[in-house]
Amino acid sequence: MSTAPPKSARPYKGEELELTVDSLAQGGRGVARREDGFVVFVAGGLPGDRVRARVSRSKKGYAEAASVELLEPSPDRIADTCVHEGEPCPGAPWQGLPYERQLELKAEQVDEALRRLGGLEGFETEPIVPAKSEWRYRNKLEYSWGDSEGEIVLGFHPRGDWRRVVDVEDCHLASERNNAARNEVRAWARENGLPPHESTDERGVLRHLVVREGVRTGQVQTRLVTAPAEFPRPPVDLHTVIEGPSGGTDGPTGVLGEEYLEEELSGLRFRISHPAFFQTNTEMAETLYGIAGDYSALDGSQMLWDLYCGIGTIGLSLASRARSVWGLESVPEAVADAERNALRNDIQNAQFVAADARLGISPLAERAGKPDVLVLDPPRAGLSKKIVRRVIEAEAPRIVYVSCNPTTLAPNAAQLVEAGYELKRIRPVDMFPQTPHVECVALLERTSG
Ligand SMILES: C[S@@+](CC[C@H](N)C(=O)[O-])C[C@H]1O[C@@H](n2cnc3c(N)ncnc32)[C@H](O)[C@@H]1O
Repeated sequence: MSTAPPKSARPYKGEELELTVDSLAQGGRGVARREDGFVVFVAGGLPGDRVRARVSRSKKGYAEAASVELLEPSPDRIADTCVHEGEPCPGAPWQGLPYERQLELKAEQVDEALRRLGGLEGFETEPIVPAKSEWRYRNKLEYSWGDSEGEIVLGFHPRGDWRRVVDVEDCHLASERNNAARNEVRAWARENGLPPHESTDERGVLRHLVVREGVRTGQVQTRLVTAPAEFPRPPVDLHTVIEGPSGGTDGPTGVLGEEYLEEELSGLRFRISHPAFFQTNTEMAETLYGIAGDYSALDGSQMLWDLYCGIGTIGLSLASRARSVWGLESVPEAVADAERNALRNDIQNAQFVAADARLGISPLAERAGKPDVLVLDPPRAGLSKKIVRRVIEAEAPRIVYVSCNPTTLAPNAAQLVEAGYELKRIRPVDMFPQTPHVECVALLERTSG
């Protein structure tokens, strides 16, 4: 009689394991196996690396961990460019991979997500568009305040250690202007001896600093996030006060300098409110919108819907090629920006609605009529099944889906295909070099239903 092998105990949270990373999973984490075969997903591990990794989550069939020490680098690794106090930049987890390899992996992830997760076939995957700049492309960075041996520091939490903050002098993902703005606010905090906020006991003042930049206009906007406290006027544009436990940066905000940031894109000038989304890579946003425009195939006669429109950038950049544009977005400040952006660019055929997509799509069809082209650009979570149903009811002959997450695009596209659309083409675009993130634009056409 044979006996089953003993079930291996899963690792416990906080346990440190020595692992060799074999491959990369969707989303970019390394995949490693313990000696008994138990699978561990390792953030910060690249194929071929031997790492010491700390377990952050342990489930029945797998665990998640973060690499805390590179014991033996993969022979394919290149030297890190962005390092803060000896720690690799947590915002650049793929910097050890040559850029060509990053592009190959991203293109594979998109294609694989659609075929395996979406069960889709018969579409064309166009070559990935590389980023114009491999470094210093981010127009927005969020920094955390901390304390290191009694000195105020401003930077990032190292991977797998949210309690510690490593000080940043020069982040290679940010421009020199962004770095200089951050360092100026840090100097002010040091001069005034303001303590960082401690989430463990809710003491201290300084929580975060958000630096956003209009790359084309040269404007920089700084927003300090603190706990409620009295202190000298900070050298920032905006001051957000957050009471109680929160790891976020959103809250009531006072204006001390410039309230709005301005940026130029696709020949238009945009106003951006601080709660509004704006693509974090300005030059590649233009490329992305160019592909969305090509896929939209507008000839001036169509009604275009721009769902999840933010400050209206996609719809407004395509308005001259459409009969009319309707944008829908849930953040009211972003909708106000979109309306103002239409006016200031003298665009008269665009209108915007502040609504949640779940509730706003059917009323929009009643008000505006059904669209000829529907552009969708949702957040990473993609669309719920209900929202896809509302999109299907809009009966657009052509859907252009801009996605920052192929694993949520895949099931959404599969649902559209089931309802009579055909997935024609998809083009991955690299907006975020040195990270596993990949953007893509997909074209779906209605064939039946
Ligand atoms: C990825 S951004 C795209 C914005 C814009 N298309 C652009 O390129 O800048 C997604 C947008 O969807 C908005 N959003 C998130 N959830 C939403 C919802 N349930 N209904 C409508 N808009 C939503 C966000 O505020 C954000 O502006």
